[in-house]
Parts: sequence; C-alpha cells; structure tokens
Amino acid sequence: MSLFRTKPIDVNANTGLKRCLGAFDLTMLGIGCIIGTGIFVLTGVVAAQHSGPAIVLSFILSGIACAFSALCYAELAGAIGGAGSAYGYAYSGIGELIAWFIGWDLILEYSVATSTVAIGWSGYLGKILELLGLHLPHALTNAPLDGGIANVPAMIIVLLLSVLLSIGVSESARFNTVMVIVKLAAVAIFIIVAGPHVNPANWHPFIPAQVTDIDGQSHFGYGGILSGASLIFFAYIGFDAVSTAAEETIKPQRNLPIGIIASLVICTVLYILVSGILTGVVHYDQIDVKAPIADALKQLGIGWAEALISVGALAGITTVMLVLYFGLTRVVLAMSRDGLLPKPMARVNPKTQTPVHLILGSGVAIALIAGLSPIGKVAQLVNMGTLAAFFMVCASVIVLRKTRPELKRPFRTPLVPLVPLLGMGFCAFLMAGLPAITWEAFFIWSAVGLAIYFIYSRTHSELAPQP
Ligand code: ALA
Repeated sequence: MSLFRTKPIDVNANTGLKRCLGAFDLTMLGIGCIIGTGIFVLTGVVAAQHSGPAIVLSFILSGIACAFSALCYAELAGAIGGAGSAYGYAYSGIGELIAWFIGWDLILEYSVATSTVAIGWSGYLGKILELLGLHLPHALTNAPLDGGIANVPAMIIVLLLSVLLSIGVSESARFNTVMVIVKLAAVAIFIIVAGPHVNPANWHPFIPAQVTDIDGQSHFGYGGILSGASLIFFAYIGFDAVSTAAEETIKPQRNLPIGIIASLVICTVLYILVSGILTGVVHYDQIDVKAPIADALKQLGIGWAEALISVGALAGITTVMLVLYFGLTRVVLAMSRDGLLPKPMARVNPKTQTPVHLILGSGVAIALIAGLSPIGKVAQLVNMGTLAAFFMVCASVIVLRKTRPELKRPFRTPLVPLVPLLGMGFCAFLMAGLPAITWEAFFIWSAVGLAIYFIYSRTHSELAPQP
C-alpha cells in the first residue's frame, strides 16, 4: 500500500553537501544545541514553581528518557544516516505516512524552538545592554500582541545566522566551537564559584509538599517532579539535531553515535551539577525565574561572575539557535528531495555546498515568527513534537530489527526490545505531563500535516507511480 512504501538506504551517498565534520565537531554541535535556554532560564521556573530542590530528579527523569532515545538514535544514525534524521529512518524502515508525520514533527520542533530561543536571546541581550547602561525600547523588543511593534533583536540574530549557515558548514561549525567553549566556561565558572557556597539546609524540604493555587493548578510534590521533568525536557533538546548532519559527516557510521552519546552524557552531568548547586545556594522560593543562574551569583554578592555568566548565556543561546536552524534546513532538504515538499527547495549551491535558498527562505520565516508572533506562549509544543519523534525513533529500532535484520549496524542499541520500549514508555510519560492546551495545539498541527500529505505530498512523492 502506498502509505507504507519505503525508500532504499545509502549511508555514504554523495548529495552535494560537503563531508567535513568529525566526532569532535559533532559533539560540539550537540553541546552547542543542548545547553541554552533550558539551563540558563527554565531551571528557575521549574525549581521555583514545579519541583523545588527535586529539580535534580526532574533533570534525571528527563535525562533517562533522552538516554534511551539517544541509544536508539545512535543505531539508526549509524545504519541509515541521511539529513532527514528520524524522518529518513522511518521512511526506510516503516513507511511514507509515518515518515511524513515524523518529518512534520521535526519541522515543528526545530522551527518553534529556534523562534522561541531567538526571543530568549533578545531578552538576554537586553539584560547585558542594561548592565552597560543602555535600554532598548519596549516597542522594538516585543511582538504586536505583547504591546510592541516587533522583536527586532530576535529578527536580526536569525537573519545573521542565516548568512553564516549559507556561507558553509565548516565555517558554521568553527563559529559554533568557539561559542561552545565560551558557554562551557560560563557553566564551569558557576560550578566553581557557587559550589563552595552550597548550604545543605536549602535542600530541605527536598520535595516540597504539594500546593494548589487559586486557578486550581497544583505545584510541587511528586506531580511537580513530573510536570517539571516534562518542562525541563526542553533543556535536552538538540542532541537529535546532530543526526541531521549525517550527510556532512566523515565516516558517519562511527562518528554519529559518538557525537550523539558524548554530547548527551556531558550535558546531563553538567545539568545535575548546576541544578543541585543552584538550589543549594538559593532557597527554591527565592530563585529568580528569568535569569536564575546569573541572579544566584548576584545574591551571593559575586557581581563579576554575574556579568560573565550573562555573556556566556548569550553565546550559549546563539549556538542553540544555530544548530536548531541547521537541523530544520536539513530535514526540509531531505523531505523536498523525496518530493514530499516542493522540489526546488532541495537545490544545493555548488559553490558553498549548502542549500542557500532553503536557508534564506526559512530564515525569513523564523525571523517573522520570532519577531511578530506570540510564539513564546506555545513553546511547550516543541517538547511535544520532539517527544513524539523520539517515541517513533525508539519504535523504528524494534521494527527495523524485524524487517531489515541484515542491515549493517556499526552501533547496536543494547537490550532490544527492552531499551526502545523503556524509551517509548518514558517519552509517553513525559508527554502525559504536558498541559492540555499543548495537546490541543499538537492535534491541530498533526491534522494540518495530514491534510498536506494527502493533498500534495502523496502524489508528488518520488516513490509515487509515474503517470
Ligand atoms: N536544549 C536547548 C535549550 O535549552 C533547546 O535551549
């Protein structure tokens, strides 16, 4: 049946993109995309309103879901590869409709995340400028529905990144590595400077008693650990974007699994340390929800470190945008090449060896969303789209082991089907922790996706019978 047609596999295909990335670059891209708004902003909201000091448990819970998924990603990235990542794995293993659904989710993940993070970037820039005595007008830093004209800094940074991504992937990777070093330095400074000030009394109560506010929303308790984990999952998003660099990776079978797993392990350790220290130096009900890490240093009276952390956060958030935006263009490229989206979008510029039209076109779209829409309000859609894609990646490992047992798998997920099943279970558990409004928005997104598939993609697919 046409909905289940599958695509042949060619891990080392020459697609016109430049193969220049090694395991180190991929690990840096992973860290570049993972550490950002999650740790520098969301930790405050989660600790102060959901989990208290048990934010460490929220991080561990979310990290476990990611670890199982990362092991599955590593197997498929090595065995199947391709810029389409999870979309491509499902296309080769399960069938076109499910692949479309995952690709559509990845577009949601990367585009909404890039726009949301651009708004966070603009906020941090405003903070740094204020430290320097400059003040950006409200009208130029807020979207119309938030009482402004446009979020101009958010738009400018996206357009600047689109130029960088168009110039070339090795140039982008070099810029990313420098910025990642700056942000890792900021995280290290926090750990070293704030660590000795931990007061274990701040960790009591470790799991604050559940409270229900006047809107009927409950906070803290065991439910708070789960809702905190569903929210903080955002902090892990990005290791999957590494897999979209498959066609630009040297020896992808070896380097992709290393990049995916190494970046996730490094970031998980840092997250647990940072959130433990944060709640150890500032009591959870005193944590600043906008810039928790920088503010904790301020509360400790270490002003110089506060400024350094803010600069590190800005650098960190820049690379998150860069890699998410890169991931978006590669997934759309793969879907266009397969005919599921208009083919002209898949054109690669022979000089820069990048899909220039696609990069610039999606840059304008992201800039408009970030600058003019209230996208921050639906940011949790990113978590939903990503969890749905992770769920399907875990399922694909089980299906492909049955349907394509002969496939060469340089990295094998251990204990199949147990590990993928646990991955699916944890992803479903975290999805259940997301609010009802996110589910509604996700159903609307999926319905629009299905309509496009049946109206356009099914008949334009490369695999559709020729008339
Ligand atoms: N993981 C990324 C961040 O925290 C999306 O900003």
